[in-house]
Amino acid sequence: MDYAVEVEHLRKVYPKSKGQKAALDDVSFKIPTGRVYGLIGRNGAGKTTFVRIAATQLALTSGSLSVLGMDVVSRTRDVRARIACVPQESRPLYFLTTEEVVYYYLKMRGMDPVEARRRTRDSLEELSLTEHRKKLVSRLSGGLRRRALCAMVLASDAEVLFLDEPTTGLDPLARREVWKAVRRTIREHRTIVLTTHYLDEAEELSSRLALIEEGQLRLEGSPEDLRARVRFPYRVMVQDPFPREELEPYGKVSKVQGGYLVFAREADAREVARKGLERGVRVSLGPVSLEDIFLEVVGKSIEEDAPLEDGEGAVA
Ligand SMILES: Nc1ncnc2c1ncn2[C@@H]1O[C@H](COP(=O)(O)OP(=O)(O)OP(=O)(O)O)[C@@H](O)[C@H]1O
Ligand SMILES: [Mg+2]
Repeated sequence: MDYAVEVEHLRKVYPKSKGQKAALDDVSFKIPTGRVYGLIGRNGAGKTTFVRIAATQLALTSGSLSVLGMDVVSRTRDVRARIACVPQESRPLYFLTTEEVVYYYLKMRGMDPVEARRRTRDSLEELSLTEHRKKLVSRLSGGLRRRALCAMVLASDAEVLFLDEPTTGLDPLARREVWKAVRRTIREHRTIVLTTHYLDEAEELSSRLALIEEGQLRLEGSPEDLRARVRFPYRVMVQDPFPREELEPYGKVSKVQGGYLVFAREADAREVARKGLERGVRVSLGPVSLEDIFLEVVGKSIEEDAPLEDGEGAVA
């Protein structure tokens, strides 16, 4: 398999950081070409640090990272020419219009004017920015400004795109437009590295994921790989009334609104569902979500009385 990004024993310690704790600590993994790769983890996990190193904006402390086979330290300029990045925090140039921001970005990357105009138009259309194209970026709302930045990067012909929380602050429709643009980019055989706190988004788009926790890689692989690594890969919701004692032997049980949620192995989950049906209560059974996996791996225990309806929703 071809890899767009290869990371080996990557370590980053920010200078003057208190106690010299590593923001990334011996991280190794590979990002396949032509797919979306999701990076997830709690605040401060090290996602942005990773993206900034890979996008050649930040120096690494030790280890190595290469993009499209080129080392980011020794071939920084070559890497830069073939990547694009939506940073977590950014300000597009305020004195330009939305249209100009996209167009000049493409021109600056060396695209010919005709192609740049076409791509600008398409990209603004794709992210529903056409009606805002003549507005100064400084006059746009925060979400629209974020969209303009996404339009810029998604319009580019970069082979590897780093998107650091591209959809944070976007309304639900705009989020889906970004997803569409991401899928379109993948159809063009390009690679996207995506960080997000929206685990539904990560699950929806990513063909592989890395879960980073306190600078360390805790889980890595396809969603199925991740599921296979947790103790209880299935979740069953059993509506009230049902005696809790009968559920306890099957897995991890927690009281949720309107019933119980049980995390269990497949056979046990089926058994629980069967028991529920025998008693005539509502039951829902399915594989754990990425959110369930996340909560289990980052070690947060499932609290009593977490809100949950019909087997969906948060369980933390
Ligand atoms: N410029 C900096 N100087 C010193 N420490 C930093 C700097 N930037 C980040 N850190 C530290 O490095 C660690 C990782 O931060 P990073 O921004 O990579 O996390 P993140 O996973 O992107 O978090 P978030 O989800 O909040 O964006 C944190 O402990 C953070 O405080
Ligand atoms: Mg970040």
